[in-house]
Amino acid sequence: MSFNRNLLNITIILCVCFSWDCSEGARAKQRKEIDSHTIQLNSLFPSPSSPCVLSARASNTKSSLHVTHRHGTCSRLTRGKSTSPDHAEILRLDQARVNSIHSKLSKKLLTDGVRQSQTTNLPAKHGSIYGSGNYVVTVGIGTPKQDQSLIFDTGSDLTWIQCKPCIPTCYSQKEPIFNPYKSSSYKNVLCLSAECRSLYSATGKPGTCSGLSCVYGIQYGDQSFSAGLLAKEKFTLTNSTVFDSVSFGCGENNQGLFAGAAGLLGLGRHKLSFPSQTATTYNKTFSYCLPSSPSDTGHLTFGSAGISSSVKFTPTSTVRAGASFYGLDIVGINVGGEKLEISPTVFSAPGAIIDSGTVVSRLPPEAYAALRAAFKEKMSQYPDTSAVSIFDTCFDLSGVKTVTVPTVVFAFRGGAVVELGGKGTLYAFNTSQVCLAFAGNKDDNDIAIFGNIQQQTLEVVYDGAGGLGFVIQFGCIKLVKKTRLREIPRFYR
Ligand SMILES: *[C@@H]1O[C@H](CO)[C@@H](O)[C@H](O)[C@H]1NC(C)=O
Ligand SMILES: *[C@@H]1O[C@H](CO)[C@@H](O)[C@H](O)[C@H]1NC(C)=O
Ligand SMILES: *[C@@H]1O[C@H](CO)[C@@H](O)[C@H](O)[C@H]1NC(C)=O
Repeated sequence: MSFNRNLLNITIILCVCFSWDCSEGARAKQRKEIDSHTIQLNSLFPSPSSPCVLSARASNTKSSLHVTHRHGTCSRLTRGKSTSPDHAEILRLDQARVNSIHSKLSKKLLTDGVRQSQTTNLPAKHGSIYGSGNYVVTVGIGTPKQDQSLIFDTGSDLTWIQCKPCIPTCYSQKEPIFNPYKSSSYKNVLCLSAECRSLYSATGKPGTCSGLSCVYGIQYGDQSFSAGLLAKEKFTLTNSTVFDSVSFGCGENNQGLFAGAAGLLGLGRHKLSFPSQTATTYNKTFSYCLPSSPSDTGHLTFGSAGISSSVKFTPTSTVRAGASFYGLDIVGINVGGEKLEISPTVFSAPGAIIDSGTVVSRLPPEAYAALRAAFKEKMSQYPDTSAVSIFDTCFDLSGVKTVTVPTVVFAFRGGAVVELGGKGTLYAFNTSQVCLAFAGNKDDNDIAIFGNIQQQTLEVVYDGAGGLGFVIQFGCIKLVKKTRLREIPRFYR
């Protein structure tokens, strides 16, 4: 497969469905069943004690890492004991992240077209970016390698980890904190280097000098931060995939809500991001599947290994997406086989991004209202219940064994479509409070965000030149078992 397309494409690949994981997709042969998915209610509440099931892709591909939910049984951070998620906290942090993305991009608008430099007079809070995501990969850093679990984030660029000697402070992490003095491959980056100068556009804060060394600082929307030396190290993804000199932040002063992870893997579009630094090997191409159950792993794969050849590219624009974000253009939404009446400018005026670290997708107010109305109508056999947190459309499903959920389909510019199964449309607190897993933006001009609940039912492909795409597969491909092709819904062809 060739990835050398023009700037920004969205890729859609035929979906692959696995017989044991297709309660949602298995009945898609007939048109009627494309309009809705029937799922077992208990599949929304995975047992915290289930043994960990590994992703086939991550197990079998040279340049692939296992992705775990940071609260899940597969995570090194929980050591096999899944912690029950604190929904209020997850949703509070999610809103903080969304707020800072919105404020960053609205400021970006003002400076679009203006070449940013360290002397540009920007609002003081420009350095505040966004809170931490939810998915973790483990990477070996240094020589000999020290394994470090990192939150991976397509919405930020600089990779950083906590480093000894932690002056004045590190937050607590599960693995031993990286010690640069115990690595023979560690090097500081000079403060007069181009990399140091590029920190401003990557983090919102200029690099500064400590002697000859470059100092970085990055602050997130929830007031978490990391600061320390910009350095280069050997990164070992797998035994056979090693990069000798990756620039990253070695953070000696860190504070925040990173859930025991050692730091962050920046997968954004800026030249300091990990995909940009490994571009000669992978052409900035990577793909991932986010596990929808805490007892499954997904994968994060660099390069085009394993990506289906039936890729459909869709161009998109980046005007409002900023330097880091991956922009995409939503053109329509379909609920239960019916296209919602939404004027195209409702989507095109604010634009949209995809973000691995935003949990719940945010839509322009008018689009959300139309989605909510259609979803409610198709779910009218279930009693509604009170709103909770950011959700205003909730159902009481107590006593119900299976639930039939209208299929929600997103259409993107160029004819690409993404079908979300039941799990991609619901946020379940408990059986008596199961909510439509979308929220409306407050302002028509706030950018829409395609978040990670919706991505959980997909394989997401980021094409070399900065584009992205989706494979509809309702769960990450697990070890063993057979595949079969699913049909893409017809409405948008
Ligand atoms: C990267 O892209 C170039 C052309 O754009 C292509 O020739 C090359 O094979 C690609 N490399 C990989 C590893 O995909
Ligand atoms: C990777 O290397 C480590 C240490 O050299 C070894 O213990 C492990 O078995 C290797 N794993 C694979 C998959 O080859
Ligand atoms: C279900 O979750 C909601 C939201 O957290 C909570 O208000 C409600 O009390 C819970 N109900 C039960 C039966 O646990």
